[in-house]
Amino acid sequence: MLAEPVAAKHGLAAGEAGRPANADWTIDQGWANYSAAEHATWKTLFERQTKLLPGRACDEFVQGMKDLPIGADQIPDFRRLSEVLMQRTGWQVVAVPGLVPDDVFFEHLANRRFPAGHFIRKPHELDYLEEPDVFHDVFGHVPMLMNPAIADFIQAYGQGGLRAQQLGCLPQLARVYWYTIEFGLVQQRDGLRIYGAGIASSFTESVFCLDSPSPNRVRFDLERVMRTHYRIDDFQESYFVIRDLDELLDFTRVDFAPLYQRAKNARELQPGDLLADDVLFQRGDGSYHRARNTVTG
Ligand SMILES: [Fe+2]
Repeated sequence: MLAEPVAAKHGLAAGEAGRPANADWTIDQGWANYSAAEHATWKTLFERQTKLLPGRACDEFVQGMKDLPIGADQIPDFRRLSEVLMQRTGWQVVAVPGLVPDDVFFEHLANRRFPAGHFIRKPHELDYLEEPDVFHDVFGHVPMLMNPAIADFIQAYGQGGLRAQQLGCLPQLARVYWYTIEFGLVQQRDGLRIYGAGIASSFTESVFCLDSPSPNRVRFDLERVMRTHYRIDDFQESYFVIRDLDELLDFTRVDFAPLYQRAKNARELQPGDLLADDVLFQRGDGSYHRARNTVTG
């Protein structure tokens, strides 16, 4: 049997070869250059994920998806997405080759530009991806950018990122992004729902995060999350739950600097750790991760 081809690296992960000419790392999406096979990969991903998300994704995700020019048949055109987003929340989607340096990423977000990878994963890597591609970035993130609270929160994150770099507190801030925008859960009428793009775009984790007895589901607390490492190559051991999306707006009004200091002075927490004063939706039994060796970030 032939081995699978080694995945090509993109953007920052590709070293000097991945750096585009523009200082802000933007490129043309090159929409007309996508092949039929690439559109077909999008369709496979879109259709299986769209079937899975009713009853799992939050109402705002479902509504955002409905209101955007995103469908099964082709990889979305960022210009068309941006036209709709701009009217709704003042955001736009810009194409980048892959991961970009932190300061470039923050600068885009601070200016309501969402950098999205323009490439799509290969058919043999549907479920595993080291780098965010167009499916993760567009299917996972863009519907949420239609929501005013998310729109303001991510902009504030970009502004906060530039400041956190100067304060030496990037790990603490990155954990907030990870446990909200990428892996966040929210309380809704009928139970917990997904709003994090990392889970909304994942076939396996969108089930695991809500249905598995393994992970903890914990009421979100800003300082607590700043102390908590996360899984970078596997399902999360803990998910953090916000009251509603507007809770994120509260965080845009908080001065993070004293929180960073307290978080840095407190004991760091491993992904599965629980504290006596955590408010739990579920105490995980840890069964999934006990059987595995995974890396924390
Ligand atoms: Fe993401």
